[in-house]
Amino acid sequence: KPTIEIATEAGACFGVERALKMVNKAAAQHAGSVQTLGPLIHNPQVVSQLAEKGVDVAEDINKTTADVVVIRSHGVAPEVVRRAKELSKTVLDATCPYVKKVHRLARLLEEQGYQVLMVGELGHAEVEGTLGNAPSTTVISKVEDLEGVKLKRKVGVIVQTTQSRQNFQSVILKLLTKTEELRIFNTICDATTQRQHTCALLAQRSDVMIVIGGKNSANTTRLTEIATQSCPNTHHIEIPQELQPVWFEQAEHVGITAGASTPADQIMAVHQAIEKICEAL
Ligand code: F3S
Repeated sequence: KPTIEIATEAGACFGVERALKMVNKAAAQHAGSVQTLGPLIHNPQVVSQLAEKGVDVAEDINKTTADVVVIRSHGVAPEVVRRAKELSKTVLDATCPYVKKVHRLARLLEEQGYQVLMVGELGHAEVEGTLGNAPSTTVISKVEDLEGVKLKRKVGVIVQTTQSRQNFQSVILKLLTKTEELRIFNTICDATTQRQHTCALLAQRSDVMIVIGGKNSANTTRLTEIATQSCPNTHHIEIPQELQPVWFEQAEHVGITAGASTPADQIMAVHQAIEKICEAL
């Protein structure tokens, strides 16, 4: 029978698991009066599980009807929290501590007179939250965007937690040639790159790879591509029912990994289903 191994770094990151735990706890304590500000996670199964527990999604703070409002792991601008308090809501702040750190450092740089540059995607919740904390921040997504920015003498840089190291480095290299004083905070969170790295290593020692996550999830598709490079017998699934026994017939070692929007319990469900299939072979 094949052995089965789950990637050590797989599925929802620390910040998202933490937010899920906080919401589940709140749902139990304040049944029927909890809403998340936007979907907590891009995973339809999780969203409907939460709905069953009476937690639904409000698109906007002004559209909330519940007493308890949950802020997602990507964080929000301080105005949103202020508005929630004005509306007499109880705010459950599930902002990831790493995202909080980005906000804090942006404020610190601003207070210390630096021109704040953030490498990130305009419109992303984390970037919007940072702009709310340090309104003078200029957002650039890539090195070319620096062309249009008039740089001051003192420049401070922060980076969106999910940016690639490569993109960040190229911006920093360019800034080194253009600034007199440069202060850099590397606020990249390694969750994504670690997942890709452990996926590649696991695929090398597996003859079947199962990648769990939304079919429309970009990071899950990327994991599938990475796994396929060294394990052609790689399958991207959303739910255990999609598993086919024929995939495991010749297998000696089965690897499992999952995209960023897959919580641990969904990975466990797939693991158990694979165990059952392998026992029956
Ligand atoms: Fe996740 Fe927090 Fe990193 S939400 S991707 S652990 S910054």
